[in-house]
Formats: sequence, structure tokens, C-alpha cells
Amino acid sequence: MKTSIKYICILFVISSILSNQNVSNANDTINTTQSLRYGATLVSSGGIFELGFFSPGNSNNWYVGLWYTNISQTVVWVANRETPLRNRTSGVLTVTEPGILVLLNDTDSIIWSSSNASRVARNPFVQLLDSGNLVVRDGNDTDSYLWQSFDHPTDTFLIGMNFGWNYVTGMEIYLSSWKSLEDPATGDFTFNVDPTGYPQVFTRRGGVIMYRIGPFNGLVFSGAPDVSNDRTFLFGTQIGENSVFVRGDAIERSAISIFTLSTTGVAQRWIWVNQSTRGWVLYLNIPSDNCDTYRLCGAYGVGDIGEFPVCGCLNKFEPEDPEGWTRADWSNGCIRRAALNCTVGDGFLKYSNLKLPDARDSWHNGSMTLEECEVECLKNCSCMAYTNLNISGGGSGCLIWFGDLVDIRVLAAGGQDLYIRVASSELGINNEAYDKDFELPFFDLSTISKATDNFAIKNKLGQGGYGPVYKGTLEDGQDIAVKRLSKTSKQGLDEFKNEVICIAKLQHRNLVRLLGCCIQGEEKMLIYEHMPNKSLDLVLFGEIFAAFKSGYMSPEYAFHGRYSIKSDVFSFGVLLLEIVSGERNSIFTYGDRGLNLLAYAWTLHQERRSIELVDACLQNLDNSDQMLRLMHLGLLCVQQHPDDRPNMTSVVSMLSNESVLPQVNQPGFFTETSTPSPESNVSSNPPSNSTNQLTNTMLDGR
Ligand SMILES: *[C@@H]1O[C@H](CO)[C@@H](O)[C@H](O)[C@H]1NC(C)=O
Ligand SMILES: *[C@@H]1O[C@H](CO)[C@@H](O)[C@H](O)[C@H]1NC(C)=O
Ligand SMILES: *[C@@H]1O[C@H](CO)[C@@H](O)[C@H](O)[C@H]1NC(C)=O
Ligand SMILES: *[C@@H]1O[C@H](CO)[C@@H](O)[C@H](O)[C@H]1NC(C)=O
Ligand SMILES: *[C@@H]1O[C@H](CO)[C@@H](O)[C@H](O)[C@H]1NC(C)=O
Ligand SMILES: *[C@@H]1O[C@H](CO)[C@@H](O)[C@H](O)[C@H]1NC(C)=O
Ligand SMILES: *[C@@H]1O[C@H](CO)[C@@H](O)[C@H](O)[C@H]1NC(C)=O
Ligand SMILES: *[C@@H]1O[C@H](CO)[C@@H](O)[C@H](O)[C@H]1NC(C)=O
Ligand SMILES: *[C@@H]1O[C@H](CO)[C@@H](O)[C@H](O)[C@H]1NC(C)=O
Ligand SMILES: *[C@@H]1O[C@H](CO)[C@@H](O)[C@H](O)[C@H]1NC(C)=O
Ligand SMILES: *[C@@H]1O[C@H](CO)[C@@H](O)[C@H](O)[C@H]1NC(C)=O
Ligand SMILES: *[C@@H]1O[C@H](CO)[C@@H](O)[C@H](O)[C@H]1NC(C)=O
Repeated sequence: MKTSIKYICILFVISSILSNQNVSNANDTINTTQSLRYGATLVSSGGIFELGFFSPGNSNNWYVGLWYTNISQTVVWVANRETPLRNRTSGVLTVTEPGILVLLNDTDSIIWSSSNASRVARNPFVQLLDSGNLVVRDGNDTDSYLWQSFDHPTDTFLIGMNFGWNYVTGMEIYLSSWKSLEDPATGDFTFNVDPTGYPQVFTRRGGVIMYRIGPFNGLVFSGAPDVSNDRTFLFGTQIGENSVFVRGDAIERSAISIFTLSTTGVAQRWIWVNQSTRGWVLYLNIPSDNCDTYRLCGAYGVGDIGEFPVCGCLNKFEPEDPEGWTRADWSNGCIRRAALNCTVGDGFLKYSNLKLPDARDSWHNGSMTLEECEVECLKNCSCMAYTNLNISGGGSGCLIWFGDLVDIRVLAAGGQDLYIRVASSELGINNEAYDKDFELPFFDLSTISKATDNFAIKNKLGQGGYGPVYKGTLEDGQDIAVKRLSKTSKQGLDEFKNEVICIAKLQHRNLVRLLGCCIQGEEKMLIYEHMPNKSLDLVLFGEIFAAFKSGYMSPEYAFHGRYSIKSDVFSFGVLLLEIVSGERNSIFTYGDRGLNLLAYAWTLHQERRSIELVDACLQNLDNSDQMLRLMHLGLLCVQQHPDDRPNMTSVVSMLSNESVLPQVNQPGFFTETSTPSPESNVSSNPPSNSTNQLTNTMLDGR
């Protein structure tokens, strides 16, 4: 693999590179009264490039061409590639009045001409520049060219050239191979930018795609070697409204470096080495190996040159034709193990280290985030994958694919992430992490997005410590509350899964129901039942209800996102204390020490004055022992350490018998500042900011 991706070999060593051409009377320009014939050449002012007549190999045909002055065997541009001269002494190269470069034979017939000049020039002349660009200019106009050979390359890309499309003029600049080493006429292969969908570069043979690099990811064409450290040839891409161009540039401009398309369709980068071994050194090849063959592994197949056989299926996919697969016929590609069902909802799996699939059938947006990109893709049932448009600077923009994903391969280096649509059943929350009987519905991101009006501000119920909470309505009319974990949430996937399991286990008709969750890509959401008009809080506290969102969250969850069964025990304890006292924990404060309900209840309990906190209407009944027991039990449930809190089995048992209750420790969120905190990370006096944020995280009625 290492050698196949980027290898270096000496292709050939030129024994004699010095030209026999007569350059003593060389100029870099010719005007309308001058001409160039065999025996004379144009030489660029710095002596780097030379233009003259040449005949390749053993051919009897003659051409006007361009080469490095000191490497005459390597012709980098040919004028009359389709119309050779039979007689070297008969050709005359000159420039005509309107500004057209022409090659005439001895009967003054035009053998070849540059395309028409963009405008009529008064004093046109031809000049060979040190970049290797042969230009037609007008008199003293140094700003623009009437024509340039850089717009009409043959098989060689030089530093400073652009290739690609100008949609306004309809002009395309691309490479085309020679027919053979002895015939520079247009061969079978082209190497060009294809702007369909999102720009990519294709090598085609007779119009049929052979190899592909791209789409351009902000740094390189996906699948092309990373050339960012290449000082002698840098590729940059300019994607404008009216054009898309790839430009070759260099930091080390003194190096002789070219990019060619061979007669067999291999795109190659060469560097001239002028040390003891003088010659062109091959720097890179496209294709680099068999896995670069376009569509080698079919749809959803993935090439991996380090594997045997080289074709496999993407995870969650299997060969469509398993029998053919064993015969190395991979053309049928792979199919999904589990069929998509867009109406029910699909999701995305992240695949890494890939050369991105063919993006001719794609859509892009430069300003979207990856999350918005996912939502965009989910909206369309034929959208099969998405990823960032630009991977530089942490990633930005959105690129989404429609239809089957083809021409994917694994890359040892420089691969990208791709989020591929799969059936929701394929989206593991890692199954073994869950109880066998754990069955919680998965919601599709698009469903939730729709229900919340794409997470509209007006539907935001509040901002929790771990992200915003939205109100929404499902298509069947069910009201939901969506807790959307922010990316910056301290709660990781494990904690989230843990919470999901715990809440799912605690489903109860008197608790707000967890309807399901949504885990897609980077999104993690919990979907709860939302019933503001029927909830317990309304029964308890009537219309001031809007402020009622707080006070039930356990400290370990509030501060660390650690959710356990004991977190719900805490909430239950708060509720119990509220019922008995008739007070709300969220707004209750007592005395100048600002004790909250839990702290006050604990203080009274220690002073054996708990009865003072019992709601007046309950005190009238002859059940004060029961009330004190409930108060004690409530305090047991809200102890700071989760381990100290009883489990619900014990709570039920303690509620239904008269056993002696255990000693109670300090509750969580004890707000008396002087009280030392048993758990160093849990502040006994949380900053008001976080308290406010955290309180909203707890959903209504829990
Ligand atoms: C080179 O130019 C000189 C002077 O113009 C001329 O005498 C000579 O024949 C030329 N040599 C060749 C090889 O063309
Ligand atoms: C080169 O240019 C000089 C003056 O600029 C001119 O005298 C000479 O004839 C030119 N030579 C050729 C080969 O055009
Ligand atoms: C072309 O160049 C030659 C040499 O510099 C000069 O004598 C001649 O006047 C030029 N012709 C035109 C049309 O500029
Ligand atoms: C070409 O070779 C000649 C003779 O060795 C040398 O003087 C000249 O500098 C070389 N030109 C370039 C551009 O390397
Ligand atoms: C090539 O052209 C020269 C000059 O026009 C002529 O003398 C010669 O006969 C031609 N040779 C052939 C093979 O046509
Ligand atoms: C010059 O070119 C014309 C047009 O291609 C052709 O008909 C003619 O035979 C050529 N003359 C010579 C001497 O090659
Ligand atoms: C050049 O222009 C003339 C007249 O406008 C036109 O007939 C000819 O086809 C043009 N040639 C090219 C190569 O565009
Ligand atoms: C360029 O040439 C035009 C006419 O040929 C002339 O009017 C103009 O002054 C020249 N400009 C310069 C900067 O030489
Ligand atoms: C390579 O080096 C030789 C000898 O130093 C020199 O003559 C020649 O011009 C050089 N070639 C290039 C392409 O720089
Ligand atoms: C998608 O799922 C729904 C509900 O289970 C079912 O009615 C429908 O037939 C499914 N569609 C496909 C294409 O499987
Ligand atoms: C609940 O706690 C009691 C007492 O600590 C223990 O014996 C029992 O096993 C626990 N039940 C569960 C389901 O954890
Ligand atoms: C409170 O939160 C706001 C908004 O997040 C922040 O700008 C401010 O600095 C915070 N204040 C404190 C004391 O943390």
C-alpha cells in the first residue's frame, strides 16, 4: 500500500539533453513583419523555455512545440498537434494583423492558427514567457493577452496554469493525451474538471470515466494525494459563480516540475532532478493503484488496497451478488442489510477514512453546519449521505449525495468522514449495553425537526445545563418536550445512554413519560411526553406553574451529567417533601441564610421540629406520625450521595410498613454556605447562573 500510493521511480534518464538548435540569434518575440522557421527558435527572456520545430521519435512529421531549453526531449505544448508538417523546412510561424498566430506552409496555406483573437490588435506580437506561456499581445498592452497557450494545453500542466471551466465563455481548459509517443494528436484520454454536482476531476477514455478524484474538500480533491507539503507544485481550486478552476502553483519556483497525462491515461507528476542521475522523477500517479479504478467495487462497495480481495461492502451492507463477489466480479456492488423506510425514519452512520463517493448527483451549501446538513439530508428520501463541504478549519458547509453511493475507497491517509443513511434499526446504541427488555423507540431527526418547527425559537421551553428544551407536536397530535443535548454538553454518550436506560426503566404513569430518544450523528435528544395542562405540577401549584421547572434535579446530574436510578429517587424525595409541606422547592427560601426547602426540612429534622413544615391542611388530620415519617423518607431520598439514597423498592417498603427509618445525611443542594461539601466537585452553593440553567433542564412534572 505504501509503495502503491506514492512511489518514486526513475522513468527514464536522458543521455543527451542539450539541444542542437541554434539559439545564438534567439529572441522571445516575433511581430507581424517577422517569422520563425526551422533552425531558429524563440527563447523566453530567462532562457527557460524554447519554442521551435520538432519531430517526435522516429516520426517524419514536424510540429511547432515548446520545451524546457535544456530538456528538449520533453515537449510540453504542441501547436499543430492534429496537422503536422511533412517538410520541416516548409513551415513558417508568424502573427497576423488582427492578432492571430498562424503556421503557414510554403504555399502560404494556413496549417494551424490560434483561435480568433478576442479583439483586433493594432500592433500584435507573439511572446514566449518564462512560465512556458506563449502569448499574443497588443503593442504596449502589458495587462492582457489576445491569446495564450495556457488556455489550450495539450498533455502537460505547467505551474501557473488553470484548468477547468469558464461558464460565461463556455471555455473549458483540460488535458488530453497524445495518441502515442510519436504522435501528439489528441489521444483517447482526457483529464478534466467536471463541474456537475460538485467539482471533481475525471480521467476519461473516449468519454468513459476511468478514474476520479474529488470532490474538492477545501484542501485537496478527495482521494488525491495530499500535496499541501509539496513545494514544487501546489494545486488550488477556485470555485466561483461563473467558473471553476484548478490552479497549479509553486513555492519553489526554481524547480522544474510538470503534471502530464500519459498516452495510457495515467496522470503523473514529475520533477526534474539534475544531480548525478539526471532525469524526470515520477512523484505521483493517478491512479495510484487498482482501487482507483472508477466504480471498481460497485455501489456501496468500498475498495481497500490493503485487503484481499480489495473490494468489500460498507458496514451494514452486503454483496448484492455474493456468488459474483467470490469471482472478483464486484460490479453489482452492495445492498443494505436492512431496507430504508423514509416514512418511518432512517438515520445516519459515520464512516471514516474514506475517499468520498462520486458527487455528480449532489447538492451543496457553503454556510451550513454539519447539523443543518443532516437535517437537510433527512428531508429528502433520496439523500443518501452528507458531510462537511470543506474540511479545513474544523469543517464547514454541507455536501449531500443523492442516489447510490459509488466509487468509495478506504484511504490510509487523508480520508474523510461520511455520514451514510441507514435504516433506523441499524443505528445501534450499542446493544449489549442495554437490558434485553430495553425497548425505547428511536425517533428520526426529521420527525423531531418537523415537530419542533426545525427547533424554532418560539418552541423553546428553556435552556438547560446540557442544552435547550423544545416543545413540539408530533404528526399524530401528541405534544412532546425535546431535550436536545448541546454539542458542548459535558454529558457524553455514555452518560446519555445511561440516562436513557434509567429513565426508560422508570416509566410510570405518574411520571412524565419518556417517549423515546433520537441519536443521529452528533445529535442526542430525549423525547418526553409534554402535557402542561394535565400535569401534576398544575394540580399542586395552580397557575404560577410557568416558573415550575426546577428543584427536582439531583446534584450529581446537575453538575456532572451523571444520571442514575438514584437521581430519580432524589426527584421523588423532593416531590414527597413538597407534597407534605405544600411548598415548592424551586422558590422556597427560609430565613436570612436563604435555606431552600431541602435544607430547611433537614434543619428542622435535626432539631426534631419537622412537624412545623407540614402543610397546615395536613396537620389537621390525626396523622402527624405519618407526616413525620414521610418527611424523613423524603429526606432519605434527597441525600447528597446517590449511594446513601434508598432504592425505590426500599422506598415502597418503607412507605408500607412501620420499620425504623435509617439515619439521614445532608441533602444535595444544601445552600447553607458554611456547610462543607462531602463531594469536592459538588458545590454546596452553586453559582446562581448554573442553578438557573440547571433548573430548566428538569422537565415539567418530573
Ligand atoms: C546558427 O546560426 C548561425 C548564424 O545565424 C548560422 O551560421 C548557423 O548555420 C546556425 N546553425 C544551425 C545549426 O542552424
Ligand atoms: C531578434 O531581435 C533583434 C532586435 O530586437 C533583431 O535584430 C533580430 O533580427 C531578431 N532575430 C530574430 C531571429 O528574429
Ligand atoms: C518588428 O520588429 C522589428 C525588430 O524589432 C522591427 O524592426 C519592426 O519594425 C517590427 N515591426 C512592427 C510591425 O512593429
Ligand atoms: C541551460 O544549459 C546551459 C548550458 O549548460 C546553462 O548555461 C543554462 O543556465 C541552462 N539554462 C537553464 C534555464 O537551466
Ligand atoms: C521541402 O521543402 C523544401 C523547401 O520548400 C523543398 O526544397 C523540398 O523539396 C521539400 N521536400 C519535400 C520532401 O517535399
Ligand atoms: C500546404 O497546405 C495546403 C493545405 O493544407 C496543402 O493543400 C498544400 O499541399 C500544402 N503545400 C505543401 C507544399 O505541403
Ligand atoms: C474566426 O472568425 C471568423 C470571422 O468572424 C470566423 O469565420 C471563424 O470561424 C473564426 N474562427 C475560429 C477558429 O473561431
Ligand atoms: C500604447 O500605444 C498606443 C498606440 O499604439 C499609444 O497611444 C499609447 O500612448 C501607448 N502607451 C504607452 C504607455 O506607451
Ligand atoms: C543540469 O546540469 C547540467 C550540468 O550542470 C547543465 O548543463 C544543465 O543545463 C542542467 N539542466 C537543467 C535542466 O537544469
Ligand atoms: C415503512 O414502514 C411502514 C410502517 O411500518 C410500513 O407501513 C411501510 O410499508 C414501510 N414501507 C416500506 C417501503 O417498507
Ligand atoms: C434495594 O435496596 C435494598 C437495601 O439496600 C437491597 O436489599 C435490594 O437488593 C435493593 N433492590 C434493588 C432492586 O436494587
Ligand atoms: C452567567 O451566564 C451568562 C450567559 O451564559 C454569562 O455571560 C455570565 O458571565 C455568567 N455569569 C457568571 C457569574 O457566571
